[in-house]
Amino acid sequence: MGFGLASSLSGNTLISASGIVMGLGTITIICKAVYNLIFHPLSKVPGPRWNAISSIPLLLATFAGNQPFYLHDLHEKYGDIVRTGPDSLSFADPDAAKELYAERPGAPELRKDPLVYPVSLNGSFSILNAPNHADHNRYRRLLNPGFSDRAIRDQESVVKLYVDLLMQRLRENAARGPQDMVAWFNWTTFDIIGDLTFNQPFGCLEKSAYHPWITAVFQMVKTVVIMSGMGRYPLVKRIILFVFKKKIEAARMKSTEFTKAMVDHRVSSKAERIDFLSYALQQKSDKEFMTREEIEATSTILILGGSETSATFLSAATYYLLNHPHVMQKLVGEIRGGFQKEEDINMLTVNQLPYLQAVIKEALRIFPPVTLGSPRVVEGHGKAIGGIMVPSGTTVNANFYVTSRSSRNFVDQDKFLPERWFDGDERDPRFETDKRSASIPFSLGRRDCIGKNLAHAEMRLILVRFLFNFDLELDERSKDWAHGLKVFSLWEKTPLLVKLKPVA
Ligand code: HEM
Repeated sequence: MGFGLASSLSGNTLISASGIVMGLGTITIICKAVYNLIFHPLSKVPGPRWNAISSIPLLLATFAGNQPFYLHDLHEKYGDIVRTGPDSLSFADPDAAKELYAERPGAPELRKDPLVYPVSLNGSFSILNAPNHADHNRYRRLLNPGFSDRAIRDQESVVKLYVDLLMQRLRENAARGPQDMVAWFNWTTFDIIGDLTFNQPFGCLEKSAYHPWITAVFQMVKTVVIMSGMGRYPLVKRIILFVFKKKIEAARMKSTEFTKAMVDHRVSSKAERIDFLSYALQQKSDKEFMTREEIEATSTILILGGSETSATFLSAATYYLLNHPHVMQKLVGEIRGGFQKEEDINMLTVNQLPYLQAVIKEALRIFPPVTLGSPRVVEGHGKAIGGIMVPSGTTVNANFYVTSRSSRNFVDQDKFLPERWFDGDERDPRFETDKRSASIPFSLGRRDCIGKNLAHAEMRLILVRFLFNFDLELDERSKDWAHGLKVFSLWEKTPLLVKLKPVA
């Protein structure tokens, strides 16, 4: 009896204690929500109320693969600056993007948000995620010479080898029915970047198949995007990591071990020509070098950044051209009228096609291959961005899809109109109000794309050779290809089926 009383007493005590904890928890959440909504320094910034009190709406959009479209819709509704979470802001204006990404005297570069750019899978930092400027400068100084105009011209024979192979393989396969151009472009750009980085191709074009490492890296990109989104909720992140530990670890091992093996092989064998690793492996002084782990982490970025992005551009450009026959006709006319024979097409001669340049700019604007933006953190005493004072601790971002699709930045922003980029006498008054600097597919500032010159050379060469050699027709199944795609930092592209008719 006495024991029963004691146990019911302790049971009651337990219940009331847990009630107090829950009550206090609820009060804390309510107080925090009220603070975020009314008293927080960002409380006057426009945005949905749910976003002012919680990061969950943005997270849900990220997990669903809709983040850029979600942000775009918020900006169309609320304006150029939107509060996307209790302590995060999104900007759509190009001047704000400059303030955010480019360094100015007296205004040092903002650091990348470590939640979005976590340490690489091998535990080291790469050129993309290095949190401190000194490390990033060290990597970039070593690698920069490999991306100069001169270096890219020296690499032309490698690029040409694979473009020749692509044309040959497409001719072999054209009669077999519609071809998936997403796959063909991915295989080509992976083979090119594999050879330019490691002096070794991945053999994708030869085998008409993705290399297993590429598949593993793709899976990891998606996981990293989702897990870094969870960074604001460490407990939930831990639970997810615990539940999926085996799967995540297996994918991590697969991608890091393969990169390590590629770097080891490259170091132990004699390179036939200078490649990107030739620059990374230099030890110029005791301060100018990269550790083996930094080289491995950076190699993954070079391969992924240097292939997937260009393949996305080529797929999107093909799709938009096929959906706009008059643009296609004009471009094909410029290409076939400009070259008598295929051998005349090279990295220098493709620069002489003005309509091609306009088409490329417009395809990069309407479908930027990297859709994340480059989220940064404000530190110190805060920073003025877009005309407001942003307090320390705020995550700020100008998403590249948002800036280039904003109706405030471009007239007919959702239409594919290469003529908006015409200059001089040809400048079209319809587009006078376009803010061209809002199209920033390669980002800005010190941490912009190191490979943009190579990307341009590759994109022009492949597109021109493709349209010189083939007449194209979009398969009915791909007529809405660009709509409804998911995005996990990179576009999750579905097959783009195109019928190819070789030009005699
Ligand atoms: C159409 C093609 C391409 C586009 C649109 C593109 C876009 C971008 C963007 C937006 C960034 C900044 C990302 C961020 O801050 O999170 C970036 C960085 C980078 N890109 Fe590209 N890229 C392209 C092609 C290439 C190529 C061909 C390479 C060659 C290897 C390359 C290598 C890199 C590297 C290494 C970085 C990190 C640079 C740094 O942080 O210093 N990219 N790229």
